[in-house]
Amino acid sequence: MAGFKTLDDIGPVKDKRVLVRVDLNVPVADGKVTDPTRIERVVPTIAELSDKAAKVILLAHFGRPKDGPDPKQSLKPIAAATAAILGRDVKFASDCIGAPAADAVAAMRDGDVLMLENTRFHKGEEKNDPAFTKALAENGDLYVNDAFSAAHRAHSSTEGLAHLLPAYAGRTMQAELEALEKGLGDPRRPVIAIVGGAKVSTKIDLLMNLVKKVDALVIGGGMANTFLAARGTNVGESLCEHDLADTARQIMIEAAGAGCAIVLPSDGVVAKEFKAGAASEVVGIENVPADGMILDVGPKSIENVNAWIDRAATLVWNGPLGAFEIAPFDAATVAVARHAASRTKGAGLVSVAGGGDTVAALNHAAVADDFTYVSTAGGAFLEWMEGKPLPGVEVLKR
Ligand code: 3PG
Ligand code: MG
Repeated sequence: MAGFKTLDDIGPVKDKRVLVRVDLNVPVADGKVTDPTRIERVVPTIAELSDKAAKVILLAHFGRPKDGPDPKQSLKPIAAATAAILGRDVKFASDCIGAPAADAVAAMRDGDVLMLENTRFHKGEEKNDPAFTKALAENGDLYVNDAFSAAHRAHSSTEGLAHLLPAYAGRTMQAELEALEKGLGDPRRPVIAIVGGAKVSTKIDLLMNLVKKVDALVIGGGMANTFLAARGTNVGESLCEHDLADTARQIMIEAAGAGCAIVLPSDGVVAKEFKAGAASEVVGIENVPADGMILDVGPKSIENVNAWIDRAATLVWNGPLGAFEIAPFDAATVAVARHAASRTKGAGLVSVAGGGDTVAALNHAAVADDFTYVSTAGGAFLEWMEGKPLPGVEVLKR
């Protein structure tokens, strides 16, 4: 891959100790992994290195432990889940540095896979403390980063190690970077972005960057209300950041200057309460009742967004169009996701989606597998889309 060293550049790894940073920060309920996607994504890198007879040593964080080791945030159950998905034995060491790590590494044979305990059990990790990074590096000859979704963190295991050991992008990191490049770096045009979610305040940098890069920006979700209100539309009781009206207007001005069309809803699904099956009606966006809340975009808006998708060669998507967690307010997100999926299959649309709720929304629409690429990254995906350099990616550049 242009610009980055990958496993294609790593050379012979037989007998080498390879420290592989993975993101195993997966959702767990009652001790069970509820969404194994991130584990599945790192299997190719682990299997490839193990097949080539490397000693594969996995580094990862789990949760946000505050005060050192916390059994509730141990990676041990995740090691078992990883072994089951990988179909190979995964050994576990109770610390990522010191004697437990060194002893476990010394006992490895070629091709073995070992997971070290949560790197965030040490304060040095998040501080990118050189002494901690050095202690991690003592167990490795080479470093592979396969954790794009943690690459917005400049931590010892995501950034620091690349300064001490020869560093390479793993297969998932590579796939993420290639997909993002196709989506926004050097996309086929026209390129459109769909941005939804509750709040403008968390996505100002994203919107400001996107209007400079895309031909049309579709705004949905609660944040569309802020734009509508800024334009003078009465949004009733809808979620709306009235204090961000100036920001919304500024984004619309930037868009006009850059030749980017801003696509706002022309109708909405309105209810008086936000609960499953609440009575709702479709209204034109100028007719939202004073006591109504817009909880989804309406059918005319869906048609309009789908028409924009039909004209696009590339689509990037972050955030749901409505309150998709609760039916019937999932209708627009599901309809547009299915349309984008069918254009991807049938018309060669390049569709790249990512960020927290987005993956859940696409899974809910049962189309995640039909997009060109769905990133498992939350914050890292957003920061990349904001045009910010990610420390864990920068350090892998040639
Ligand atoms: C994530 O789950 O978004 C990544 O693993 C990063 O985790 P963090 O937000 O706790 O750094
Ligand atoms: Mg996060």
